[in-house]
Amino acid sequence: QCHLKGEHRSDCYPETGVTEAACLSRGCCWQTSNVKGAPYCFYPPGEDYSVQKVINNGRSVLLTRSQHTHWPNDVMDLQADVVEETSSRLRFKIYDPNNKRYEVPLPLNKASGSSQQTDYSFTIDHNPFGLTVTRKSTNSVLFDASLAPLIFSDQMLQISVGVPTTNLYGIGENRKPFRIQLEKGPGYSLWAHDIIPEINTNMYGSHPFVVGIEPNGDAFGIFLINSNALRIDVIPTSPVTIRYRALGGILDFYVFTGPTPDDVIDQYWTLIGQPPLPPYWSLGYHLSRWGYGGTSGMNATIQRMRNKQMPFDTIWNDIDYMVNEMDWTYDHTVYGQLPDLVKDIHSHGEKYVMILDPGISNTQPKGQYAPYDDGITDDIFVKTADGSAPIVGEVWPGKTVFPDFTHPKAEAWWQKHAQIMHAQLPFDGIWIDMNEPSNFKDGSVTGCGNNSLENPPYTPPLNGSSVIQKTLCMSSTSYGGLHYNLHNLYGHFEGKATYNVLKNIIGKRPFVLSRSTFAGSGNYVAHWEGDNFADWSDLYYSIPEVLSFNMFGIPFTGVDICGFRGDSDEELCTRWLQLGAFYPFMRSHNQNVAPDKDPAAMRFSSAAHDRNREALRLRYRLLPFLYSLMSRRRAVARPLIFQYPTDSAAYSIDRQFLWGDSLLISPVLDRGNRTVNAYFPKDTWYDFFTGAEVSKTGQWSVISAPLDKINVHLRGGSVVPTQVPDVTTEKSRHNDFGLVVASSGSRTAQGFLYWDDGETLDAPFNNIQFNLDGERLTSTVKSSNYATTMTLGSINVYGVAPAPSTVRVNGMGVAHFYDHHTKALSVTRLKVDLLKPFVMTW
Ligand code: NOJ
Repeated sequence: QCHLKGEHRSDCYPETGVTEAACLSRGCCWQTSNVKGAPYCFYPPGEDYSVQKVINNGRSVLLTRSQHTHWPNDVMDLQADVVEETSSRLRFKIYDPNNKRYEVPLPLNKASGSSQQTDYSFTIDHNPFGLTVTRKSTNSVLFDASLAPLIFSDQMLQISVGVPTTNLYGIGENRKPFRIQLEKGPGYSLWAHDIIPEINTNMYGSHPFVVGIEPNGDAFGIFLINSNALRIDVIPTSPVTIRYRALGGILDFYVFTGPTPDDVIDQYWTLIGQPPLPPYWSLGYHLSRWGYGGTSGMNATIQRMRNKQMPFDTIWNDIDYMVNEMDWTYDHTVYGQLPDLVKDIHSHGEKYVMILDPGISNTQPKGQYAPYDDGITDDIFVKTADGSAPIVGEVWPGKTVFPDFTHPKAEAWWQKHAQIMHAQLPFDGIWIDMNEPSNFKDGSVTGCGNNSLENPPYTPPLNGSSVIQKTLCMSSTSYGGLHYNLHNLYGHFEGKATYNVLKNIIGKRPFVLSRSTFAGSGNYVAHWEGDNFADWSDLYYSIPEVLSFNMFGIPFTGVDICGFRGDSDEELCTRWLQLGAFYPFMRSHNQNVAPDKDPAAMRFSSAAHDRNREALRLRYRLLPFLYSLMSRRRAVARPLIFQYPTDSAAYSIDRQFLWGDSLLISPVLDRGNRTVNAYFPKDTWYDFFTGAEVSKTGQWSVISAPLDKINVHLRGGSVVPTQVPDVTTEKSRHNDFGLVVASSGSRTAQGFLYWDDGETLDAPFNNIQFNLDGERLTSTVKSSNYATTMTLGSINVYGVAPAPSTVRVNGMGVAHFYDHHTKALSVTRLKVDLLKPFVMTW
């Protein structure tokens, strides 16, 4: 009975150091395997749950198992529910019907009721228990939880799910190529951790969501909502198995049936929440570093940016603006001029963002530091295991306590201090860091107790090897429960509170950037990928990272441009700015000990400054398009495979990506390269800048990429709105718009422009649609609720043949330029009112 193939093996010895003897002593089977990641030690097939009773019209079953596993506290009786929530979303929940266990306390967008018509069917196996979910249209089994025995003990839950493809994407937060590399074997640990990004280790947040693309191009998604420490291994069995291990909670899955990759993302975001539209200025370029050395350093950076006409929208402060790195203070010596500087920033139409860390100093004399004193009065700090006192850790200010953002009074406390600060330093956005939460002492300054929470029976491979490394004791308690359960949600709750507080204070769309996130955090925060390094490999990894977070519902993501740690020479920095112009969130940031890497840094040559300015100007030129993409509440940065799901050549491409379905970005990611090897899917593609059509598609081509250029191509069939760039968005928003129109094979194209005041919550907006049909480009004003001036100054149409003799806009002949070589038609110096429909013909 021990002759089981990999997919039927449920790991009986997930800890390291398994031997045959140790395995057999657990009463399990031992057999080697040449499938990478398939366990050698596994449960005998009979040792599983079976169905005792079917209830709820066959949609719920009561389960039991007869034998204990070696894990402490098996839950011997379980209930499993299957809910057909929507036509494309099924929920599968396994829990203890007799004793309520911890469940993730996040409001998901519930479906209105049980769906009658579904794109899937499901089958429940009785003995042993299993569930399969099948796509009706193709009979493909999308989710097969019938292959291997289920384990459900108090602190170790294990389930294997068979999936019908090797093309899998997601599972974060981890650094890895975008497509999960099955040949590398298992897996990923999801446990929020303050760590320098390294391949395959657990990082700042947890996103247990995976998308699969089947060989025929159909896509599906699987989301396990569980905030405990997770291990998710992807094993190249047949079918491929995704093996989930959770250290607590319940098994609560959602299966999405697509069928397109975008449908899957849509279905996932509908469940976890669609991110709100950020303020327009936050789409601009953000200037940040740790260690400006005071307002003089900030000023010097600002002045050189302004002097060199380099676009930027914000300047940020890291912890060095504070007194002793304590929240809600600012250093009155070197940063004494900060209020005046913020005034100056605002008078130039720029914005100010500063950092906050969760750790609150508890060592100030009583009466000297109100954030601590008030927090004690309100009793809102995370407590020790016995609940008697706040748990004390150590972060930048020395000893600190940690706000419990699940506490009903925490938000009001956070708001009070934000308001006091805002009266002195009217910040526009807030950056929340170290919110895994990070603690320089493992557990607390006095360590943790010796119990099964701090030392769970099973610990997945973690950076630091322990769940308490660089964070709080697992037995510490919050209003919402044990840190053991809530750890992965700490940043999420801080993000939510900070978003609400900022919204209350400024009464406009808040901008909050957070390091630690969980599924659904995109409702409140943008994200950056932490402490990357200034080298070419980190430049590459930024693409899979940004693409992954666009799947995870936090499209507003970027990485520290030019690298946070280390030195970046001007070539790397220029290439990074060129790519960074296409991160949905574009910020440069720098470690305190690293030299300046801002685009105008003195140590860069003036030729580099010119190139950097061009990258920034390209960003600003494209902002109306980016904003329009954001307004759709869909992924902005997308992998090619999402657009061309049947193109197997695109499965693994993560050195190029798309903006929406229009722009293909092909950056240089290697030192010294002046060409790029770029893949052009079978379609019509034009050079975005010249309009020259790509002659060979459906193949790789080596294209020229001089140092002053990032390759951007426009898909035939798209219309991209642009705007004449300026030094801030406040200025650029008054400039003329432009349109870049790319004719498809059938000589059509569509696009739209979304526009509002860029800051009001629920703002009235204008929506203008563009349509090319042969030799006729028209616009339709779908909505015009935002009263403003919108002037169209230029139109470029790519793929125009034969050469037009007359070009008319709204019936009037206009001067035009036609390039016989590229077949690009351009009309400039227009003054077309975009809020009225227009017609261009030729
Ligand atoms: C860690 C953050 O990831 C980094 O961006 C920041 O500069 C430092 N903390 C100091 O606040």
